[in-house]
Amino acid sequence: MINLLVMTLVGCSEAVLSTGPAIGCLEETSVCVAARADRACELDLRVLDGDGSVVWNQVLSAVETSDFTLHWQVNGLEASTRYDYVITDPDRAEVFLGAGAFMTQAPAGSRVPVTVAFASCAREDDGSSAVWTRMQLRAIDALVLLGDTPYIDTTDLQQQRKRYREFARVPSFAALVRGTPVYSTWDDHDFGANDTDGRLPGKENSRQAFAEHRPNRLPPEQAGIHDNFRVGDMEIFLLDARWFARTEPSPFDASKPTLLGAEQWTWLKARLKASTATFKVIATGMIFNDAVRPNKTDYWGHYPHERQALFELIGELKLEGVVLVGGDVHRHRIVRHLESRDAVGYELVEFISSPVHDQIIESANAPHPGLLMDIGTGNIYLELSVDPAGHIPVLTSRFIDSAGRELDVRRWSADELRAASKP
Ligand SMILES: [Fe+2]
Repeated sequence: MINLLVMTLVGCSEAVLSTGPAIGCLEETSVCVAARADRACELDLRVLDGDGSVVWNQVLSAVETSDFTLHWQVNGLEASTRYDYVITDPDRAEVFLGAGAFMTQAPAGSRVPVTVAFASCAREDDGSSAVWTRMQLRAIDALVLLGDTPYIDTTDLQQQRKRYREFARVPSFAALVRGTPVYSTWDDHDFGANDTDGRLPGKENSRQAFAEHRPNRLPPEQAGIHDNFRVGDMEIFLLDARWFARTEPSPFDASKPTLLGAEQWTWLKARLKASTATFKVIATGMIFNDAVRPNKTDYWGHYPHERQALFELIGELKLEGVVLVGGDVHRHRIVRHLESRDAVGYELVEFISSPVHDQIIESANAPHPGLLMDIGTGNIYLELSVDPAGHIPVLTSRFIDSAGRELDVRRWSADELRAASKP
């Protein structure tokens, strides 16, 4: 018994971080920190203020049933304040197993410029790695992963976990998310298999691995992985287009299958209605528009009743400043949804950010009457920035390659993204 106890303690004192730390759900007074230990052990997260004083700490146990992953929910911080954090073995507090720093968000309504990066379809290769480095050099305020991040292609729990670990260990990605909050949804390949929907056997394993390995706070009672969060004057509604798809009739047309599912639709309506942000970004892995390569069925246009329901919801709630973001198709594009004008009151603009790797699909360069831009090269991501300094807030879109070249830059005034007042 004594020998076993000694061995346990020795093992714990030699623990190292297998992945992380990474931060997420960064708000005015709180942040999530996630990491994975290489064995069962206890680890202490300490958050320090500018004077080096510990303002928050918590010891958590890494256990095998959650793949030795740890999730700290840090509360009680000050807004607009920089903090450092360190992770240690409580018995060896002088050895930092992981460390990082972050700045809490300014209070809602503060006029601070912010930039959010949107990226999909990444591999653990040099080109993708250079994109993560570029994001860090440009000091983005948040990273949104739109899926195929990573490619997994199985719902086997151990394989799912292994792929999240491999993705998280890419040094440039690890360096980025240590101090930049990361938010994620999945597309088909990280959900479990190409072009799959909510009927996929084993999807509970995919959700478990996702919840374990990404810094997030998914409510345990919530199915799927949808989430919303504010970054400055931009609020992002990150939808799950996989978990519920084709699992039930659509709430808008019972003769057709759902895409988002009734539960997610109810959530989305409530969150959109409550939003006070000037710009509202509705994002999924799959694209919203119909310009796809031949024979592709895996996009919102294959569920036209739910796409129309989204347009009508935006119109019903009289939402201003809404833009769409998708990934998946291995082309970077901007498309105007001319057909949304009647329901929404203005033409929704869709940005497509794919891929971070360099595998372009030539046949995805499909025509669309509202196509504004198409880039057929890889190692690119999208930045959306809000600069509230002017009289009228402006959203700026930039497609940027790993070398830092701004390949397409456009400015979208809040005035353009609202219904014209009726005479
Ligand atoms: Fe992809």
